[in-house]
Amino acid sequence: MRFKSLIMAAIGTCLSLSAMAAPVTIKFSHVVAENTPKGQMAIKFKELVESRLPGKVEVKVFPNSQLFGDDNVLEAMLLGDVQMAAPSLSKFDNYTKKLQIFDLPFLFKDMGSVERFQNSASGQKLLGSLEKKGLVGLGYLHNGLKQLSANSPIASPSDIAGKKFRIQTSDVLAAQFEAVKAVPVKKPFSEVFTLLQTKAIDGQENTWSNIYSKKFFEVQDYITESNHGLLDYLVVTSKEFWMGLDDDTRKVIKSSLDEAIAHGNKIAAQKADSDKQAIIASGRTKVSQLSDAERQAWVKAMKPVWKKFESEIGADMIEAAEASNQ
Ligand code: SIN
Repeated sequence: MRFKSLIMAAIGTCLSLSAMAAPVTIKFSHVVAENTPKGQMAIKFKELVESRLPGKVEVKVFPNSQLFGDDNVLEAMLLGDVQMAAPSLSKFDNYTKKLQIFDLPFLFKDMGSVERFQNSASGQKLLGSLEKKGLVGLGYLHNGLKQLSANSPIASPSDIAGKKFRIQTSDVLAAQFEAVKAVPVKKPFSEVFTLLQTKAIDGQENTWSNIYSKKFFEVQDYITESNHGLLDYLVVTSKEFWMGLDDDTRKVIKSSLDEAIAHGNKIAAQKADSDKQAIIASGRTKVSQLSDAERQAWVKAMKPVWKKFESEIGADMIEAAEASNQ
C-alpha cells in the first residue's frame, strides 16, 4: 500500500514538472533592419507562433546583426546557439554549391520568374541541398532584384572597371564583377555603410529595401536600376533542432512560417517600389535607368559567368530556371 502511494506521488511530481517545462526558445537572428521584408517576416513569425503555441514556444528575434552576422550564423546554428536565420541565398557557398544558381547574373526576368522557379520541383529540390551539412531549408523569402550604386555614374560595364565593389560571400558574385573588370570585395553586410562612407570601396549592389533601410543612398551619388541579379533568402534551421521538436509543434511552426513568408513577400513587392520612390524623393542620389542597348552590353559582359559555374550548379537546373522566364 505504502509502495503504491510512493509510486503515485512520483508520477504526480513528474506530471507537474512536465507541466512547468520551460518553453522551447527559437532565437531568430538576421542582419537587416526591422522595416524590411525579412525584418517584418520575422516579427510576424514570432506573433503567429507565440499565439498558436502559448507558453510552449517563444521566439526571440535579433535584427541588425545584433546576435550573429551572416558570416558566423550557420556555424552558430550547428552548435545550437541560434535556431533560425534567413541568410541571403548568396551566403551558402561553404555549405553547398547548388544555391549558386540564384546569383547567376541576368538569370531571372522579374520576381514572377523567381517565384515560379522557387515553387517548381527543381526549386523545391534545392531546399534540401543543405541536409548533408546538418541544415534544413524551410522556405524561400523574397527581397528583390539588385541595383548598382557608386560614386560615379554607371551606364556601361566599362564605367565600373577598376572600381572596388562590396559583394556578399559568393564566388559567382566575385566572377560577375571580375567579368566587367571591377574589383569584388567580400564584406559582411554590417560593414557596408562605413566602407562606403569612408570611400574604402567605390560601390555596392543591393535591393531598394536594403539601400534605403541601411541608408547606402546617403553615401553613394549614383544608383543605376540594373535589376541584374537576385537577393532572396533561405529560412534555415538545424536538423538537430528541427527533428528534436514533437510532430505537432513542428507542424504549427512550419505553417506559421509559411504564413509569415507570404506576409514578407507582400512587403518585399511593396518595398521594391516604395523604397525606390523614397530614395528618389530624398534627392540625396541620382537614380538612372539603363537603355535597352546599355542593358544588352551588361548582359553580354556578365552572362559568360554562367558557363563557369555550370558544372557545380547543373545545366539542367539552369535550364529549369530559364524556363521560368516564359
Ligand atoms: C540581407 O539582406 O540579409 C543582407 C544582404 C547583403 O549582405 O547584402
